[in-house]
Amino acid sequence: MTTARLILLDHGVALAGVASWFGTGVAAALRRHRPALALLAAAVLVTLARIASVSVLAGRGWWFVAEKVLLGLPMLCVAGAAGVLLAGPRLWAGRRTTGERLPASCVVSLLTAAYAALAGLVVTFLAGYPLTWPTALIAVSSVALCALLTARVMAGETQDEGKDPDPARGSALTRRRFVNTAVGAAALGAGGTGVGLMFRSPGSVVTGGGPGHSSGSRTALSVADLRGPGTPSPGGTVRRHVLTAQTATVRLHSGREIDAWTYNGELPGPEITATEGDVIEVTLRNSDIGDGVTVHWHGYDVACGEDGVPDLTQHAVRPGEEFVYRFRADQVGTYWYHTHEASDPGVRKGLYGTLVVGPREAERDGGRERLDLVLPVHTFAGAVVVGDRDGRAEHAAAPGTAVRLRLVNTDSDPHRVALTGTAFEVAAVDGRDLNRPETVRDMSLRLPAGGRYDLVFAMPDTPVALVLDDDPEMGVLLHPGDAEREPETADTSDWPELDLLRYGTPARLPFDPDTADRDFTLVLDRAVAMVDGRPSYAQAVNGRGHPSIPDMLVAEGDVVRFTVVNRSLETHPWHLHGHPVLILSRDGSRSSGSPLWMDTFDVRPGEVWEVAFKADNPGLWMNHCHNLPHAEQGMMFHVSYDGVTTPFADGHAGHG
Ligand code: C2O
Ligand code: CU
Repeated sequence: MTTARLILLDHGVALAGVASWFGTGVAAALRRHRPALALLAAAVLVTLARIASVSVLAGRGWWFVAEKVLLGLPMLCVAGAAGVLLAGPRLWAGRRTTGERLPASCVVSLLTAAYAALAGLVVTFLAGYPLTWPTALIAVSSVALCALLTARVMAGETQDEGKDPDPARGSALTRRRFVNTAVGAAALGAGGTGVGLMFRSPGSVVTGGGPGHSSGSRTALSVADLRGPGTPSPGGTVRRHVLTAQTATVRLHSGREIDAWTYNGELPGPEITATEGDVIEVTLRNSDIGDGVTVHWHGYDVACGEDGVPDLTQHAVRPGEEFVYRFRADQVGTYWYHTHEASDPGVRKGLYGTLVVGPREAERDGGRERLDLVLPVHTFAGAVVVGDRDGRAEHAAAPGTAVRLRLVNTDSDPHRVALTGTAFEVAAVDGRDLNRPETVRDMSLRLPAGGRYDLVFAMPDTPVALVLDDDPEMGVLLHPGDAEREPETADTSDWPELDLLRYGTPARLPFDPDTADRDFTLVLDRAVAMVDGRPSYAQAVNGRGHPSIPDMLVAEGDVVRFTVVNRSLETHPWHLHGHPVLILSRDGSRSSGSPLWMDTFDVRPGEVWEVAFKADNPGLWMNHCHNLPHAEQGMMFHVSYDGVTTPFADGHAGHG
């Protein structure tokens, strides 16, 4: 069973536990002994089932069960056992009667088990991983307080029924009140302390200081100085572009008009192309995007000062302002660019374009014709646009033409991609070539948000269709010469998904990931946390939201490993700036194909990915979920090199 299903199953069992314990307590309070007894048996069985489901889930990793093992189950088991011991014998004895009063302790203990079951579930959904002292204190004290309130209500009932003149009973009541008050005060105190601890400011956050801030005895390096290189390699040229960010009403190919945010009024923004060794110089101007804009070179390992992250590597470019990016195109392949200020909604509304760098030595295709298509995929209000057309684009390609389709997912959700009518190779992933990729056929690919695949094949003498999301009306149609034949319509929805961790051939690695200098774990889940100064139901990393997530601190030259664990039921396309990561394993099974370098990898619900990178590009780098709304909801933080500072952290938050 997949971990995601196990997580769901465990939620289901936990919910059944809450229901059955509440049912038992309520039936007992209503003096329905037989139903209460049956429900008690059910509650015990469900609780045992819960122990089993948590145990199985624990086999998938401690991160999935920590708060359940340390808090939820112990609370439930203690309270449940008390309920069984106190109420069980009474219910059994009274099973043939109805309406006879049970001692208050029976009802209180059964309902306390219900509160404990509920508290465990609430902790899982609101706090997640890791379990903290504040959370534990709040949970235990809430259960204690609820138990106490229940006891008071039951005591009131007892009093009303028995107005007993017996002085011994009277003093017992006084004693109980005293105990109640003491327990109540303790619970309130614990809860209050928990809340206090929760809002204590995190001590471990390290962000760059202002100019002149130094780390230890080393000279501080400011990201503002990490620029360029601004001169081309021998034989290269400078490619100059001006990108003007502006709002525009754009008419899609289908005739539909949309209100967009654009670079130069175009959707997507201008294609930027270069040859290896050229310098790319882009002047960004902001005409009227009130939120401000930047250009981030997604997957391109530029010097940090060119990375386009507002408040970290530069100030956002406000209307009327400009910023010049200048860097050498040393990486060949398929990349893209987009705004990093107000990235959601900015990218969604159109502030993106493609960046393709070709090799200096032109590839030889034996004199064959070439068709090289750059295909950014983007969704505008439900309409999928491929390249600059929505619906299906068409191209002619003579049989034998060497075709390269460069797919770029500029959305926040993954797309499913299939090629009908031809076998193909995945030549490159996220711009980096794979080592000896096999030819495959009738297999689909999942393209993560932000990710790129280069698919190559020789054009057959029959049509080929690139099908998106299994919708034959969406994608790209290639037809050979003048043949206007439709491709055979294949149902691609049941095609197996190509697993890139088992694709291609292993090769030597530039570093040994097994002797990493640093190791980090990121557990992704929803949690109540502060995001940009506001309490919210965040997309959290280790229980925290931006900017309270501690930085990953590294030193130049380190080999850094990190593990990404997805405890949630949503996909998180994880994206590191400035470095490609080498995929080491997924769910414990090692990557066995070509070395797989990605800048955005899709961590699906329940998955655990281990990746590594070489810290060879000094700076302060974003590390975030590329589902941009998630990033906005807290799921982003920094990888910080020792000794690097930023003069741009001016407190303005809310970027992504
Ligand atoms: Cu493509 Cu930080 O993003
Ligand atoms: Cu996410």
